[in-house]
Amino acid sequence: MSANIESHLNENRVFKPAKDFVKKARVQSLAQYRTMWEESVKRPDKFWGREAAELTWQTKWKKVLDWKLPFAKWFVGGKLNVSENCLDRHLDGVRRNKAAILWEGEPGEKRVLTYAQLHREVCKFANVLKRNRVKKGDRVLIYMPMIPEAAIAMLACARIGATHSVVFGGFSSDSIRDRIADCQASLVVTADGGYRRGSIVPLKKNVDDALKDGASTIRRVIVYRRAGNEVAMVEGRDVWWHSEVEQVDAKCPAVALDSEHPLFILYTSGSTGKPKGILHSTGGYLLQAYATCKYVFDLRDEDVYWCTADVGWVTGHSYLVYGPLACGATSLMYEGAPNWPENDRFWKLIAEYGVTVFYTAPTAIRSFIRWGDEWVTKHDLSSLRLLGSVGEPINPEAWMWYHERIGGGRCPIVDTWWQTETGAIMISPLPGATPTKPGSATLPFFGVDAAVVDDEGREVGVNQGGKLVIRGPWPSMLRTIYGDKTRFRKTYWSEVKGCYFAGDGARRDKDGYFWIVGRIDDVLNVAGHRLGTSEVESALVSHPAVAEAAVVGRPDEIKGQGVVAFVVLKTGATVTPKLRDELRSHVGHVIGPIAKPDEVRITEALPKTRSGKIMRRLLKEIACGKAVTGDTTTLEDLSILAKLSASGE
Ligand code: PRX
Repeated sequence: MSANIESHLNENRVFKPAKDFVKKARVQSLAQYRTMWEESVKRPDKFWGREAAELTWQTKWKKVLDWKLPFAKWFVGGKLNVSENCLDRHLDGVRRNKAAILWEGEPGEKRVLTYAQLHREVCKFANVLKRNRVKKGDRVLIYMPMIPEAAIAMLACARIGATHSVVFGGFSSDSIRDRIADCQASLVVTADGGYRRGSIVPLKKNVDDALKDGASTIRRVIVYRRAGNEVAMVEGRDVWWHSEVEQVDAKCPAVALDSEHPLFILYTSGSTGKPKGILHSTGGYLLQAYATCKYVFDLRDEDVYWCTADVGWVTGHSYLVYGPLACGATSLMYEGAPNWPENDRFWKLIAEYGVTVFYTAPTAIRSFIRWGDEWVTKHDLSSLRLLGSVGEPINPEAWMWYHERIGGGRCPIVDTWWQTETGAIMISPLPGATPTKPGSATLPFFGVDAAVVDDEGREVGVNQGGKLVIRGPWPSMLRTIYGDKTRFRKTYWSEVKGCYFAGDGARRDKDGYFWIVGRIDDVLNVAGHRLGTSEVESALVSHPAVAEAAVVGRPDEIKGQGVVAFVVLKTGATVTPKLRDELRSHVGHVIGPIAKPDEVRITEALPKTRSGKIMRRLLKEIACGKAVTGDTTTLEDLSILAKLSASGE
């Protein structure tokens, strides 16, 4: 943590919003931001009540907020439907025939869905769900490639009040099975396969493997034909999307749902145990997704907005589907990899579609830098007016490259800090108001009372590191961990009294700007993906040769963090040259390819305290190739240190 703080402390460049950007922006000065922020935090009922009035409600709320720490209810008594807000309300005016989704497949196919067309497809698929006995409150698992049907399935669930749980297409069959078991889903929506870097990801096969023990709660699997790869259809369980859609009509009313009705569950890694099902609501979630799109991306009807995240992550939920559609924006969706067929696919897409607002992750930016400027300069990126970053701290070098090479020096950058749990952006510049500093997420969004505190909950001084907390509720906050209120309270609301804390360290500079350092718990951030060290460890020990494992992160130039595993083998297991690869593939198989360790170190023992706790600090230092520093007096067996340092490949 301290190394990161020091490298950022020398960063003192400031970029003011350009005059012509300010003129058109919704919030046009820091003073205006501060007045609005004060009101939003002191009078949330007034601020959020006004914002919420921009959405369509079937019944107006009676009370804006009901807060009994740690449980919040927003817009009590209000009824609305998310799909109606994303679709129907745009159909009466000029947006009716405006593009809602511009889609390009990795092999190059193109599709455009206007708001009227998207509405029709969502209504039809909602009827398909009903035909397959999905009712309000049921859970539906969505395991799809990046095709419009992923958004259609999500919106169709929202239309009838089913709660969706999207699983990222890169996760394994074991991950699908665990999530189904946790949320007791009754139906899966999937595709035969999806394209990624020229090959086909066998999605349907992964679903089949997840369901093969027969003990699942799944009654029905709906399969969209995308890649044309061969799939096995199980009689009585599996049906084709296309033939189902032919059996239904295109009218489906949007059900009036309580503002607190669960819209979705999204699983994410924590520092202990299995991934947690983060539960989001209807009214509060939609409102903050909408309001952040409006203020942070300053979205306009004429924008072509592109968020590169996969729908399987929270960024895909809030900023590919719900936020932009609630704003009536035109969103670009691209199925595949940024380097397919060549390293300039993203720049080609921006030039071809005239993208104006572009939102991506620092890990992608660092890859672009490595691939070389020549891939960028051959394309005309002059349509861009605003850039965004999300998922991990953006280092000042990457920020500057993004600003100069992609933004041509004229586009503001919004570095947005938030989490699966927060549902929507929490700390970010407002592009027409906030002067930016490379590497800082700057100031809290409206309604967000963020602070940096010590272990006792006291605010720390200027430029001192501490825990990043949120004091009090916000509309899109997670409502609970699905099925586990105790874990919800313990994980998020008990570390710092009265505050929400979810694992990040930060400091504030003399201007009150937040500089996020990254996770200070046992969660890794690998290429913008969250991974629990304990998850990777339990995947490793499920291999027959492994007795014990400890996993730590080490800095990685492109991915932010890489995964290093220290593994103790069972007596009798032999170290063969293939074993390390086998262990890597095993983790890939259990969790998904993103979790594969970069390095596996086989060792005789792990460094432990006398009470048996693994000394991760030592392992981190060894993984980084550093000399072990600091106190080792609690280490049970000092000779382990020398052996560990020699355990590298
Ligand atoms: O460590 C923070 C980092 O990503 C974590 C949240 O990961 P996830 O729930 O997967 O959501 C990612 C997309 C919102 C945070 O705890 N993080 C996210 N955005 C930033 C960030 N760290 C620094 N700066 C950011 N802008």
